[in-house]
Amino acid sequence: MTLRHSYDGEVSRPNYSCAGSLVGWSTRLITGRSQVQVLPRALLHLVDGVFRGIVTRKEHEGSAFRLHQGNRMVVLSGSNSRLLAEQLAASLGWEHHQLETRRFPDSEGYIRIPSETIEAVRKEPVVLVSNTFPDAGIVETLLMLEAINDVRKGNMENLREIGPQNMDDVGPGILLAVPYFGYSRQDKRFKPGEAISARAIGHLLASRCDGIIVFDLHAPSVLEDLSVPVAFTSAMPELALHLQETVQPDFILSPDKGAIERASTVAKKINCEFSYLEKTRIDAHTIVHKAKDLDVDGKTVAIVDDMIATGGTICRAAEALRNQGAIAVHAACSHGLFTGGAIARLIRYVDGVHATGSLSNPRDVISGGPALARGVNDLFERLEWSQ
Ligand code: R5P
Repeated sequence: MTLRHSYDGEVSRPNYSCAGSLVGWSTRLITGRSQVQVLPRALLHLVDGVFRGIVTRKEHEGSAFRLHQGNRMVVLSGSNSRLLAEQLAASLGWEHHQLETRRFPDSEGYIRIPSETIEAVRKEPVVLVSNTFPDAGIVETLLMLEAINDVRKGNMENLREIGPQNMDDVGPGILLAVPYFGYSRQDKRFKPGEAISARAIGHLLASRCDGIIVFDLHAPSVLEDLSVPVAFTSAMPELALHLQETVQPDFILSPDKGAIERASTVAKKINCEFSYLEKTRIDAHTIVHKAKDLDVDGKTVAIVDDMIATGGTICRAAEALRNQGAIAVHAACSHGLFTGGAIARLIRYVDGVHATGSLSNPRDVISGGPALARGVNDLFERLEWSQ
């Protein structure tokens, strides 16, 4: 299967023939501390099953999925993506419901679909917005998908016998939107014996939903063989408009070859000059750029990347721009990880830092809602679900 990637507001359309919901899971009730003790074993079983191909998925029962007249569909979120979920719901005109999430004293997580949300989860397709970062986000996302699958399948048995114990299976209808896909940079086996982490996480998530929306994924090709359709969407159109309104750059720079497609999309959208640097990463904190003449004398430049972590890439690129006469330098990205004092480091080199809220960060000024909404609409079309 060939994937096409685009950052101009379009999403790629791989040709998938079917997708479905997971069946045959072993489910355990999470009604108290003692029950939670079984989760690690249950999770390991499921993980093992996915990698051995034991876990089966049922195919669509007919391709058409019709929205019931007058119902509003639902965006759900857990502990890490509430803002993006609200932005997505606003972009789509859907309801947003928050799931219950908390931590036990030993740090294990607990999730529950509140009683008042159960009907909403069953009546129409749902989109769960959840990050797989940091690691706790992976477990929380899997647990939320597990609970949503159970509720939609009508598996409601609980030890306290609250409410109906079994209901009809309402069929497929679970999309997962991942604003920041953790492990996205381990997308290749750089040395023998390494895990291709991004692919491993992708397979796990795909085993529990009918489609995945990923927002500005570092290298989309790593998720090309998942068992469900994936919509690769991007905030670059919104990032471009934000830069135009606030910074009015003359020149857009990609700090490395990997960001050329994204940054050039921004440059085209707001009609700016564009160039890129060639970067070599010596280690996590040491970046070297190949010398290059850039026509930036007297110009305002915006450096555009998918993510900023330590800030090293941006600081080195900003230095090169200043040395060649740039009068103002801004940094813009989708994912503001800002690790290890990155903001303090960045403000010594750039005049402004701009990010989306895919991760909670102090430079969140660009809404990710429209990009996620494009991904949701794309999957509805590909899965032939009507809205
Ligand atoms: C790498 O290829 C990415 O696109 C970013 O350029 C990189 O992850 C940024 O990391 P840092 O801020 O630590 O230089």
